[in-house]
Amino acid sequence: METWEKEDGVKFLRKVGLRPGQLVLDFGCKAGHYIIPAAFVVGSKGIVYAVDKEQQALNKLQQKAGANNLKNVKIIKTSGQTALDFESESIDVVLFYDVLHYFGKHDRKKLYQEAQRVLKQDGFLSVYPKHTVEDDPIQEFAKLSSNDVRREIENSDFYFEEKYCGAISHDDSLNQGCILNFRKNEDHNCI
Ligand SMILES: C[S@@+](CC[C@H](N)C(=O)[O-])C[C@H]1O[C@@H](n2cnc3c(N)ncnc32)[C@H](O)[C@@H]1O
Repeated sequence: METWEKEDGVKFLRKVGLRPGQLVLDFGCKAGHYIIPAAFVVGSKGIVYAVDKEQQALNKLQQKAGANNLKNVKIIKTSGQTALDFESESIDVVLFYDVLHYFGKHDRKKLYQEAQRVLKQDGFLSVYPKHTVEDDPIQEFAKLSSNDVRREIENSDFYFEEKYCGAISHDDSLNQGCILNFRKNEDHNCI
């Protein structure tokens, strides 16, 4: 995984749309298999906010970021709330990677609303809907397909933009998976 984080993971996240200088929020980052490549992509002018409720995983991430001399990783330990403690329209990219299946429908809706709020108008939401019916179904996704997840995000004022598939990180190894990107619908209050 160390090699993936520094090489193919970096290429993959570039393909997904991460760019130098961006502010990226990774909600449910664990020990940071996506944080490390994201931090390499956004570079010294960008920041990757690493949000999780598990201190142990965040400690591991802190060590890894230090070992890679990545000063652009900001670690945020939460108590598990769905509210994202960020200013409105302040973030370029929100990642919900392999995390939405922990949440029931109501809380997922809150997370989409929060992503909608914190994202800049030209920002995007990037989702890895792991553990749906097609892919090792568990927890709240046991009966949902990735199309169902796509639809519920579209119903939260996002539109689907693009899908990126490849050999990507899951837990501590690689698997074939697909990332779905969404953009905010136009602000209908603006004329
Ligand atoms: C399966 S891991 C995915 C890690 C990472 N996103 C990845 O794809 O490699 C899910 C992570 O989400 C975190 N998580 C679950 N519920 C959470 C919540 N309510 N608030 C913050 N983190 C949460 C867990 O602690 C865990 O580290």
